[in-house]
Amino acid sequence: MRAVAALPAERSVRIVEHPEPRIEHPTEVLLQVLEVGICGTDREIARFDYGEPPPGSSYLVIGHESLARVVEAGPEVGRVRRGDLVVTMVRRPCGRPECSACASGRQDFCLTGEFSERGIRRRHGFMTERVVDDQRYLHVIPLHLRDVGVLVEPLTIAEKALIQLWDVRKRLPWTAAGVPAGSGHGERAVVLGAGPVGLLGALALLVRGYDTWVYSRQREDDPKARWVEAVGATYVSSGRTPLDALAARVGNVDLVYEATGAASIAFHALGILGVNGVYVFTGVPGRKGPISLDADAIMRDLVLKNQLLFGTVNAGFDAFQAAVDDLSRFHARWPEALRALITDRHPPEACPGLLTGPATGIKSVVSFEAAP
Ligand code: BGC
Ligand code: ZN
Repeated sequence: MRAVAALPAERSVRIVEHPEPRIEHPTEVLLQVLEVGICGTDREIARFDYGEPPPGSSYLVIGHESLARVVEAGPEVGRVRRGDLVVTMVRRPCGRPECSACASGRQDFCLTGEFSERGIRRRHGFMTERVVDDQRYLHVIPLHLRDVGVLVEPLTIAEKALIQLWDVRKRLPWTAAGVPAGSGHGERAVVLGAGPVGLLGALALLVRGYDTWVYSRQREDDPKARWVEAVGATYVSSGRTPLDALAARVGNVDLVYEATGAASIAFHALGILGVNGVYVFTGVPGRKGPISLDADAIMRDLVLKNQLLFGTVNAGFDAFQAAVDDLSRFHARWPEALRALITDRHPPEACPGLLTGPATGIKSVVSFEAAP
């Protein structure tokens, strides 16, 4: 069976012949992979800046943003059935007795750092024809979401952030009182960056009632800027509007959702965060050398404005479930805009070139369905 793999010894990404997976435990499920999304993490793996093959393997099958169909379920499987569409979680527990996070099923908060991730670290991923996984890592998605279901995993980043944000917001009890759990209810949110994580984050904020702004480098006539305006958020181009002018337009910024992965932008944008504001970092920057910052101003604001900054990675069961629910909402409200996030689909053979060539479009997807 074909798989797209990164081979560290050769420093190449190519199609390899990968053994057919088999159900070995009664709670496992055999899946036929339909689509796999490509993200910045895959590009880093293809540059050999990140990623690690499973112990004893000379290659890593990449791909962690998946959509698959159940073809066979083990005898003790109750959560999914043959024919179901599913998205599989990425991270697996470290298994160390001292890790209370992994022991309670929250490996997205693993304490030891010894976790594995499918398609990223020490475990093969989904860019292949068939995979097996335990039912506990699968999330069923409605059949009518077939053409956008591959967006669930990148959406989980925003969902995990928003779940934590809601917990944090309870420190301001009057703002959380009388509104549905998770609601933004008119609070002002600025999304930094218009890649898939930023744009999906903007939709998640919009459905919760946030007054949502997207700040990015594209010009106002760029298709991404028009997409932002079409879904009901406000687009501001960094080329025309410096950060302080953005803050003057928005008013008190209650939330900054960072999705650029560029430390200099991310840290300079700390200056726009308002009173009682929360700043969420989701990007993983490469190493680009030190930057200078006005640390006194940042620290004064943090203290004198009750600000809170947090970083978030990966996602737990709850965030995957929330992503499936939100994707349905997005699909009902913005069917065209949601589909437009997937800008290009490719056969697996095109993948090595896609990962190493320049990034174009919004979300590129590798399709396995038409496999010979
Ligand atoms: C994935 C996460 C993963 C992270 C770090 C991201 O691209 O979406 O699931 O935890 O990379 O490896
Ligand atoms: Zn990813």
